[in-house]
Order: sequence, then C-alpha cells, then structure tokens
Amino acid sequence: MCGIVGAVAQRNIVSVLVEGLRRLEYRGYDSCGVAVIADGEPKRARSVARVADLADQVRDTHLEGATGIAHTRWATHGAPVTDNAHPIFSRNELALVHNGIIENYETLRTMLRGKGYEFVSQTDTEVIAHLIHSMYRGDLFQTVRDAVKELHGAYAIAVIHKNQPHTVVGARQGSPLVVGVGDGENFLASDALALAGSTDRFAFLDEGDVVEITLDGVKIVDRDGMPAEREVRVVAAYGGAVELGPYRHFMQKEIFEQPRAITDTIPQTDRFAAELFGADAAEVFADIDSVLILACGTSSYAGMTAKYWLESVAKIPTQVEIASEYRYRESVPNPRALVVVISQSGETADTLAALKHAQGLGHKHTLAVCNVASSAMVRLTKLAFLTHAGTEIGVASTKAFTTQLVGMFVLAVTLGALRGHVSEKQETDYLTQLRHLPAALNSVLALEPQIIAWSEEFSRKENALFLGRGLHYPIALEGALKLKEISYIHAEAYPAGELKHGPLALVTEAMPVVTVAPNDALLEKLKSNMQEVRARGGELYVFADSDTRIVSEDGIHVIRMPEHYGLLSPILHVVPLQLLAYHTACARGTDVDKPRNLAKSVTVE
Ligand code: G6P
Repeated sequence: MCGIVGAVAQRNIVSVLVEGLRRLEYRGYDSCGVAVIADGEPKRARSVARVADLADQVRDTHLEGATGIAHTRWATHGAPVTDNAHPIFSRNELALVHNGIIENYETLRTMLRGKGYEFVSQTDTEVIAHLIHSMYRGDLFQTVRDAVKELHGAYAIAVIHKNQPHTVVGARQGSPLVVGVGDGENFLASDALALAGSTDRFAFLDEGDVVEITLDGVKIVDRDGMPAEREVRVVAAYGGAVELGPYRHFMQKEIFEQPRAITDTIPQTDRFAAELFGADAAEVFADIDSVLILACGTSSYAGMTAKYWLESVAKIPTQVEIASEYRYRESVPNPRALVVVISQSGETADTLAALKHAQGLGHKHTLAVCNVASSAMVRLTKLAFLTHAGTEIGVASTKAFTTQLVGMFVLAVTLGALRGHVSEKQETDYLTQLRHLPAALNSVLALEPQIIAWSEEFSRKENALFLGRGLHYPIALEGALKLKEISYIHAEAYPAGELKHGPLALVTEAMPVVTVAPNDALLEKLKSNMQEVRARGGELYVFADSDTRIVSEDGIHVIRMPEHYGLLSPILHVVPLQLLAYHTACARGTDVDKPRNLAKSVTVE
C-alpha cells in the first residue's frame, strides 16, 4: 500500500528519495511522486507508471533539492491519475504526502473552500495540505500539531513548507512512520526498509506522535503534545532483503528461503515453555479456556490450520474469524479466551481494528504471532511470538505463512503440555519433528522441475478447483488463493467432502482439480472424492504422500511428496502449491511480485 519517504540533508537527496520508493514498490502502488524545496519553492515530479519512470523524469528535468518528501500511492479516494498522485501541494508553498484515510474530509473540504482554497484532486489528502497551509504562521511543527487534532481517521504524513527549507514534519495515527537517524541528515519513512541504504539507526514513532526532522535534530511530541523520546535502535537486517540474488522474482526467492526462515523461527529450547510467548504467558495461559484467532488473507489460513492443532493437541476450543467480519459484528465476548492475532506485517488495518475491538469488549488475554517486532500489533498485545521469516517482499505471502504455522504449532503444543494433554515424550518428539522440517522442506523444493511441467498446462486454464480435507483444507484454500492472486486464474477451494454439494457441477475436462492427499485418516474418503471427479472427466493433479498408493494413470497426475509428516504435514504440502502458482504465473507472464490491484500491507480498511 502507500509508502512515504522524507529527508533533510546537505546534499541533493532526490536519488535517495527515489531509491526509498523503489524499496517500497513491493507493497503495491499505482502512482508515485517526489517533491523537494528548490529555489525557495516546492517542485515535484509525479508518475502513474513505475518508480523507474519517476527516476527518468527527475533525471530529465534535473529535479534537485536537499529537503524533500516522496510517496507511492495505492488509490482509495480518486483514480490513479497524476492529479491525485502525491506529493499534494497547497498554493505552491507546501507539499504533503499521506498514507491512510481521512474520514471527515468532506466537512474539512467545505470549510476550506469557504476560506478560498481550490481543490484540484479527488483525494482526501488535499484537505490535510490546505488545512496545514491555512493554519501556518511560521512554525510548521506547531502547525501540524494543531492541524492533526482536526483529523478523524488514519494517517501517516510528511510535509514540507517553502519558508522552512531545512525541515520535514511528520505525524502518525493508525499508520506506521519511523525516523531514520543519520549524520548531519535525517529521514522519515513508513517502513524502515525504505531507508536501508541510508541509515541503520531507527526510532519507531508511537500512535499520535508528531515529529520534526532537521539537519541536526529530531524533535518528537506525543499525542498529548508533551516532548517524547523514542529509543533509537540499530537495525542492520534490512540490507540483503531487497536483493534478488540468483532468483527471477522475490516470491521464488522467498519460497526457497523457507527452510532458513523456519529454522530461525523454531525456538532454541528443549521444552515448549510458556515463556516463549512473553514474561506474563504462564499466568495468562493458566487462565484461558478457549482461543479466538483473528486475521486476514493468508494469515487467516494459518489460523484455520492452527484450529485443528489447538483442538487436537491442546484440546482447547478454538474459533477463527476473518478480522474484517469480527470487528463489525455483535459477538459474545468470553473474557477467558486467548485472542490471537496472526499477521505478517502487524499493521493490517482490519486485524489491528479487530484486536482493538476485542480489547474494547473486555478481552485482556491477547497474543500476536507476527513477523515485525516493532509493529502496532506486537505493541498492543500482552504476549507475542515473533516469526523470523525476514522481510517478505512478494505480495503473495509464502515464508511468512509457513513460519506462522510453526508459531501456531508451538502454541498448540505449549498449551497442550500445560493442560496435561502432551507428555514429555511427545514434546520431545514434536521438537524433533520441527527440527527436521527444514531438511524435509528442501526435499519438497527439489520437486520444482515436476511442478514446472504441470504449470505449463495450468497456464492455459481459466479455472481451477482445489480439494483438501481436515488439516489440509486450509492448505487447499491457500493454494487457490496463491493461484488467483498472481496468475489471475479463477480458483476455488473446497473441503473434498463438499464436492457433491455444488462444485461437482463445474467439473468437466476443462477443470483441473488439484488435490492435497496426505496419508491421514481421511485418505480413503479423499480417494472416493477423486473418483467422483474422474467420473465427470475432470483432470486430477494430486500431491500425494509417498505411502498413499495413489499412482498416475489416465486423467490422474501425481507428484509424490518425499515424506509423510503427520501433524506438521500442512507446512510441507503448501510448498508445492506455492510453486505451482508461481510457475503458472510466470508462464502467463504476470507481474508476480506485484500482482494487479493488490498490496502487500493493507493499512487501510
Ligand atoms: C495482504 C497481503 C497478503 C496477506 C494479508 C494479511 O492481502 O497481500 O499476503 O496475507 O494482507 O496481511 P498480514 O500482514 O496481516 O499477514
């Protein structure tokens, strides 16, 4: 989604700003722009094409300046046209970039029109630019502090004014913003990754903070207007994340990083101790009687898989809800439930709002399973389990998902042990299985050539059906989601037992049916479902465990999974589905890492 970069320096900063936008490209955007103070006024370049086009424009027009702001926009209010691209100007004196949505923009626009301001864009952002301009009396920092009090909604902003050519002011409420601390120069960004080339020292702003950066200083005030200190942390890990190495796309790189990501996520302990989830976890876990999982997208499928583990291993009743549904429906809160939010980014607007909604209903036992330690969700929950997937650039989530599964499995066994359903011997066995997972994953990744052969066929289809049962039903859902996200092939997933209640009507020779076939208690039932497909001429593509005795024959294509992996099998079975989606998308020539209309981090509702 939208991205912000800002800088104050003593050198031409335009290339740093544009490079920052390049690093944010993966989040998804449909226009971009940069503005600097040059010759006493803001000057800008904007593009409805890629950041590379913006880079050409700034080079051709010699746009240069030492203080500036830049933005990638993912359209919400107003189409992705140049007039709506940020930076947005107010009377050629002030330039502003904004992430988020201002809910009271219509009221503010009417008020500002009354003061003679002319609106040239359809954005909600333009009201912020004019509002700050209308209130400006020579101190941008103070003006922004006053202006944000008038805003309802979510925002991260960065703003410059021609009268203060060495100052950028930022503010955040509901959207992330970090300060990058340099030597004789300072930066702002919506994601520290954007600044990885310029600094490794970051201060993560809190909700409601307003910040002023100048050449030699950073001043922060909190939501009450009181001076605030935010710890400056050294984060060096972003460096290699944006390098592709030998891979064609980040998604492929990230699929192949899964053995490493999982190794880093598996706790280095001999026991599944409550402390893995935070200092207060033992106390919280002793009080809970159920689990409520809230998440969006791929993360919600990690939650659905975890429900099977939590109920079978820990024998604890578990409910999984799509965050955007939960936050708006009337539910019956159970204060003894453990509310678990699962999120790669920790910033997804609906999941964050669902968490706050749960807290508002009196839920005090909260846990985040998250890939970003500094994220809003980790800060808001009492407990946290950090996945160590590393930065995920591809919009379609892969290594974040499998590490979330590891985190949720650790939770299930930990609760199972505490509740007396997992013996010490079983704990040791589960740990051994977890530790062997990276090696097992490497054998699955070695199936890539066989999957490439299938993807040629798939690339010519317009529809696909995915079937799974039990633990693997959410994996079928994830496989279908991956395929539609990046190849634009319409794909749906069903628990195989539901086939004859509707989807069987769609099965013809034109419909490939992908089946996840682990050797578990449901195998024989799954085989019957496969026969139902074959009887209607449907082509089956089966990922079968080696001991299932499902063999390739007319209309049935089988790729054999190297190992049978019991309860942890979903973590292995999702990988060939990721590869199938990836290679099908490549064969169709889509923009794999930045699929149309989608964003990496959905920070608006
Ligand atoms: C977007 C991404 C998905 C992700 C979902 C939830 O839709 O494209 O890959 O699963 O958001 O994101 P989260 O950061 O909360 O896991």
